[in-house]
Amino acid sequence: MKNWVQSCDGSYTAYSSEYDEHYHSTKDGALNESLKKHIEPAFALHCKKDHLRIIDICFGLGFNTLLSLYYRDTYYPDTTLEIYSPELDGDLIASLEGFPYPEIFEPYRNIITDIATLGGYEDERTQITVEITDARVAMRALEGEWDVCYQDAFSPSVNPALWTREYFADVARLMGEDGIVTTYSTALATRLALYENGFNIYLNTGEGYRNATIASRRELEGYEKVDMAHKIGCNTDARSLKDENLAL
Ligand SMILES: C[S@@+](CC[C@H](N)C(=O)[O-])C[C@H]1O[C@@H](n2cnc3c(N)ncnc32)[C@H](O)[C@@H]1O
Repeated sequence: MKNWVQSCDGSYTAYSSEYDEHYHSTKDGALNESLKKHIEPAFALHCKKDHLRIIDICFGLGFNTLLSLYYRDTYYPDTTLEIYSPELDGDLIASLEGFPYPEIFEPYRNIITDIATLGGYEDERTQITVEITDARVAMRALEGEWDVCYQDAFSPSVNPALWTREYFADVARLMGEDGIVTTYSTALATRLALYENGFNIYLNTGEGYRNATIASRRELEGYEKVDMAHKIGCNTDARSLKDENLAL
């Protein structure tokens, strides 16, 4: 059961009674959260790339994918985009034509329709695949080298399988040497799971949104690096989530 809910920036998100969570932070605003925590850092850190390969975990209402299109079209029109997004809820995807999207997504009505009815969209500059599948299974099966992973599952407390060390090992395997993972989670367990898979951990902070995390294969400039060795030293009981501790 899902209800549409207006968030603080005026854009609508949804509430899931199954997970007892909203799809976005209602305080940060759905559109604003997607922009600040995922899209802006992803494009800023890959601004020299003429082809961007993005994994969007999980599609949900599709804000991260749609805002990536808007951002590309507005600031990087020559960049081609390839987006792969797993999503468990096929009924949600089929219903998306009725969702009250922000005005800026209006040019993408035909793309929303194609995703809802065909599971994807393609033109000369854009390839989008939305697969109705478990992201956990999908990440094991996916191949190739990807530039960005928008890690936007429900929170670790209600959807732990998409936040374990083993899950992030699959994500790490798919990231190229400039690969980054963007996520709203600042939990130490999340950062540990990424760190244990070879990522450097950075704070994504700014006006108008709660702190978030960027994990990067390479060292980044312009973001505050989290001193993970220090964090681990101060929190000796802290552990990443592990598959073996979940009832998978
Ligand atoms: C926080 S919402 C995603 C928000 C999305 N990025 C957006 O912009 O609307 C989490 C989504 O994860 C989906 N989900 C939960 N478990 C999943 C799994 N194991 N595999 C794929 N999708 C999953 C839910 O159906 C829901 O749509």
